[in-house]
Amino acid sequence: MTASSADHLVLFMPSGKRGRFAEGTPLLEAARQLGVHVESVCGGRGICGRCQIEVQEGKFAKHGITSSNDHITPFGGNEIRYAEKRDLKPGRRLSCTARVLGDLVIDIPQDTVVNAQVVRKDSDGRVIARNPAIQMCYVEVEEPDMHKPLGDLDRMLIALETDWGIGRPVIDAHILPGIQKVLRQGEWKVTLAIHHDADGERPHLIAVYPGLKNEAYGIACDIGSTTIAMHLSSLLSGRTLASAGTSNPQIRFGEDLMSRVSYVMMNPEGREGMTIAVREAINGLIDKVCAEGGIVRTDILDSVFVGNPIMHHLFLGIDPTELGGAPFALAVSGAVALKSSEIGIHLNTGARTYMLPCIAGHVGADAAAATLTEGPHRQDEMMLLVDVGTNAEIVLGNRTRTVAASSPTGPAFEGAEISCGQRAAPGAIERIRIDPETLEPRYRVIGIEQWSDEPGFEEMAKSVGVTGVCGSGIIEIIAEMYLAGIISEDGVINGALAARSRRVIATGRTWSYLLKDGEPRLTISQTDVRAIQLAKAALYAGIKLLMDKQGIDHVDRIGLAGAFGSFIDPKYALVLGLVPDCDLDKVKAVGNAAGTGARMALLNRDHRREIEDTVTRIEKIETALEPKFQEHFVYAMALPNKVDAFPKLAEVVKLPERSVDTDAADGIDPGAGRRRGGRRRG
Ligand code: FES
Repeated sequence: MTASSADHLVLFMPSGKRGRFAEGTPLLEAARQLGVHVESVCGGRGICGRCQIEVQEGKFAKHGITSSNDHITPFGGNEIRYAEKRDLKPGRRLSCTARVLGDLVIDIPQDTVVNAQVVRKDSDGRVIARNPAIQMCYVEVEEPDMHKPLGDLDRMLIALETDWGIGRPVIDAHILPGIQKVLRQGEWKVTLAIHHDADGERPHLIAVYPGLKNEAYGIACDIGSTTIAMHLSSLLSGRTLASAGTSNPQIRFGEDLMSRVSYVMMNPEGREGMTIAVREAINGLIDKVCAEGGIVRTDILDSVFVGNPIMHHLFLGIDPTELGGAPFALAVSGAVALKSSEIGIHLNTGARTYMLPCIAGHVGADAAAATLTEGPHRQDEMMLLVDVGTNAEIVLGNRTRTVAASSPTGPAFEGAEISCGQRAAPGAIERIRIDPETLEPRYRVIGIEQWSDEPGFEEMAKSVGVTGVCGSGIIEIIAEMYLAGIISEDGVINGALAARSRRVIATGRTWSYLLKDGEPRLTISQTDVRAIQLAKAALYAGIKLLMDKQGIDHVDRIGLAGAFGSFIDPKYALVLGLVPDCDLDKVKAVGNAAGTGARMALLNRDHRREIEDTVTRIEKIETALEPKFQEHFVYAMALPNKVDAFPKLAEVVKLPERSVDTDAADGIDPGAGRRRGGRRRG
């Protein structure tokens, strides 16, 4: 199109893309020319209703546009027919029918629900601009003619090229046996599902439906070592229809990642057993989300999976043994695209699967997905993104440069290795406050509304029970013990306090803090404190290495990802020195950022290119090989840290006086960090 002064300015929201168009241009065409994604299944015949838009009326001084409903052709033709049969909300127009008559600001609604669907609010409420890899194309095919020997499929492909400009797609073999039946069933009107992911690649014809098929679905799945979470979304509206989760059945082969790798090494059938287990669980989840969303699994045409490197490999049927030791070689680090049926995932026969790239041998596709969600690479601020698990995945960067590493934190944050630790479940203490005068604790338990010192708690506790302390509770109790002076900055429980509090009790040659008397009796021992110190020191040392690489001494923003990250109170994460000093209001739990990243890649193939490109530019740091890891580790054993100041935290929390003893290694086993670094990988 060549612009002239007679052309009209059209601005599309929310993308903000704008251009000039000749009078009479259909708005769907204008959007296409600007690269604005507006869905269309029927190819502008006015029957699918997918192409809805709204005119924004008013003066938009910033853009120099006065937009009005008079600047678009009047409601009519196809729109009237569509509105008679289906629900077209007032103000909505069909962009394939409505044409430009003047300057316009056009809103593309993100909630174009055409068929009655069970719709649930997205877990994170995030609106993801759509540009899915699946395109549904309705065509009307010429009927067979004895004088024209072209085959049914060939005439269908001509219609596809004529109406949609899609030429020479690769035909999935499973299409051929059924094509004649489908065409006749649809009376020569069919909808083709085209898979078109990367530009420059030939599109693939993956499914053919009789008549107008006005819906297509996809699943996004985060395969965690403990839990697997799945979302079912409409590829055409972007809506999430259902979400479900289940525990990862591989747990029966080993609680943490390394024990699963060991299981594979020790058992010849181990790899296969774990691959089958995880795929079965995923197929089970597909049943669940389909039932909740009111659809059948053959309606699912696309799927995106993310996971840490070991989950990624086991899901794909790859032996993860190489990930068990240096140099932690991935079998494949780039994005993987294949047919879902090839990996035993039962969806539509032609459905495709995309797996995000892994960042490094122990920083996986889940970290890549979290990076995609939080976008450190899209911002000027230096952002730290931490996913705390048995192996913390850490990404630090901004628009200019991004670095990543993993740190061997071990399972202490998940409650393992802690005498009273347990999984986050009803009965687990999750919040704790300790009175610095009396040293008496008050706490909150999962499944009980009241705090332990509030009326009604005892009653509830009888039924729910108070059974242990979960990960976020452990962070709080160690931090509160430090703030109350029960433990020193080096993590030593002060036995002298036993003289004034029944809470400090002798345990052999060391001391413990009595959190709860009775049955079960819950105490925090010196060994528990040490286990948390070791875990947090490993995490902090990894973060510091990345800060060294970036040449910075503070970060602007911190995102705590994953289930654990969602429950940690940022204040206590800082008091403990889990992460570096930062404005407290810039430290946020970012929820299941990996799952959201998977959904972004499902609904918009541009996000696939974005993360593929970003991952190639992320610099990977191997913590075990960095000489400064040990030094950072030793300093990080102290609370919050032996050498790093926490001035921003000190503005909101009264931190205990620092001890004058600056012997950083005092009381700390200097070999601990290195041995830890060598032991837990993956
Ligand atoms: S493209 Fe189908 S109704 Fe407009």
